[in-house]
Amino acid sequence: MNARPEPGRRVLGIETSCDETAVAVVADGRHVLANVVSSQVELHAHYGGVVPELASRQHVEAMIPVLDEALELAQCGLQDIDAVAVTYGPGLAGALLVGVNFAKALAHARSLPLVGINHLEGHVDAAWLDSDVEPQFPLLALIVSGGHSDVVLVEEQGRYRRVGETVDDAAGEAFDKVARLLGLGFPGGPAIDKLAATLGSASLRLPRAKVEGDYDFSFSGLKTKVQRIERGEEGPSPETGELAAAFQESVVDSLVTKALQAAEDLGARQVVLAGGVAANSALRASLAERSPVPVIVPPPALCTDNGAMIAARGWQRLLAGDVATLDLDVEPDLRIG
Ligand code: KG4
Ligand code: ZN
Repeated sequence: MNARPEPGRRVLGIETSCDETAVAVVADGRHVLANVVSSQVELHAHYGGVVPELASRQHVEAMIPVLDEALELAQCGLQDIDAVAVTYGPGLAGALLVGVNFAKALAHARSLPLVGINHLEGHVDAAWLDSDVEPQFPLLALIVSGGHSDVVLVEEQGRYRRVGETVDDAAGEAFDKVARLLGLGFPGGPAIDKLAATLGSASLRLPRAKVEGDYDFSFSGLKTKVQRIERGEEGPSPETGELAAAFQESVVDSLVTKALQAAEDLGARQVVLAGGVAANSALRASLAERSPVPVIVPPPALCTDNGAMIAARGWQRLLAGDVATLDLDVEPDLRIG
């Protein structure tokens, strides 16, 4: 394939930045033909968080079976793949190395174009997968995951301006830490989401952090507050569900308020909710309800880490003629915008 792809072309998307080994086949950057995710959640749950060395080792073991399954589901072989896109950052160095080296070897062996993808940009492009909605620039992306909470203005295709971020914990990290201290297990986000949904709204109200930057977040004070309440340091402790729901309400309110303020101030025509925490049902509902402009949220399976979003972003990079060489290296601290 030339740098400029033709219609009907298939991009293989490879993602190994954290604890998911994921491979997808996506046609025209849009149509998901296969999206296989091998999660290591059970492996790490035992330790209460992701153990980097175990993650890399597991990626090595899972990579080929996951690739085989993706090709089988997409009903094609490697000879039908037109380009390889892979996450090169941000993430765990050892985990990223497995995916990048595998992608390089594959691209080299089959003489295919290789594209290195910023994982956070991939999360945003999950919005257009298997959807008829077209991006309307400028758009405001709220990227909330285990490692990031970024408010990003996407000025045009491929041009990002980060206007807000967390000053301490990422939103997903806060969910995971609070779930751990409430004894809800790992990963915490889905557990808190589920428990809070059984309650409806919480009668307890926790504070919203005040942060200097207009569109910045802070979640570590909230986590400490939950810990104090749970230990009975602020009077009799409420039910775990009540505390979990109040925590979630505070996080959701801060995220939605700041993101929508940014969208209004910067003239965004759409809001895209992206990253693992975008799977949160209360966040999805609140953003859709409060936003004056259209909100695009991928289905939950495309919000958490996957290869399809990497292939989708890869397609756009190929359209822009942006192909990597075999010098592509991992960038664990890569930012967006
Ligand atoms: O994007 P992602 O899959 O991996 C990273 O790039 O970090 O995000 C993982 C994060 C975890 O912190 C997890 O607890 C959170 O997303 N998460 C959720 C939900 N599902 C996953 N947080 C809140 N509610 C959910 N339903
Ligand atoms: Zn992610």
